[in-house]
Amino acid sequence: MKRIAIFASGNGSNFQSIVDHIKAGKLEAEVGLVVCDRIGAKVIERAKKEQLETFVFDPKEYESKKHFEGEILERLHKNHIDLIVLAGYMRLIGPTLLQSFEGKIINIHPSLLPSFPGKNAMEQALTAGVRITGVTIHYVDEGMDTGPIIAQKAVEVEQGETIESLAQKIHDVEHVFYPSVIQKLLKSSN
Ligand code: GRF
Repeated sequence: MKRIAIFASGNGSNFQSIVDHIKAGKLEAEVGLVVCDRIGAKVIERAKKEQLETFVFDPKEYESKKHFEGEILERLHKNHIDLIVLAGYMRLIGPTLLQSFEGKIINIHPSLLPSFPGKNAMEQALTAGVRITGVTIHYVDEGMDTGPIIAQKAVEVEQGETIESLAQKIHDVEHVFYPSVIQKLLKSSN
């Protein structure tokens, strides 16, 4: 069974959907580690409830990214992690992790990249007035939402769409799309 680590900074609804798909037998994987860079984030509570191992850290307590990523790396190896799944991890991945997990780190972003990278992707789409936005799953490189695209799904921006209604639609798509793409990736890497 392939082992994944999920990195998240906030609510963790994508974390939850991945775990739920695993429990339902729709995603053949084990969550070997949950990494969170924000003390008190909701995802930690969710991970504890699922009795998963967590590594929660405060970046300010480390000298540099190299130092905290070094500690993450140790734990990834100790837990025999095959794939890193970023799910709302609000931090660029540095060379320490990129070099050791080359081609084995993926991210989900709430727009059709390369449009609207970075923070507030949904606000950016609404402001730009596009009629179609969506969700992108991509490999992670050193840039901000710039790595090779794995899969995308479109979401329509309807008349009178608000940030709340768009966020709901995007999340609904993400919660099914991410687990299914992870399943395909893990199957094809057998
Ligand atoms: C998702 O919209 C994802 O696309 C983005 O961060 C958000 C995380 O939401 N990268 P949640 O914490 O999984 O609810």
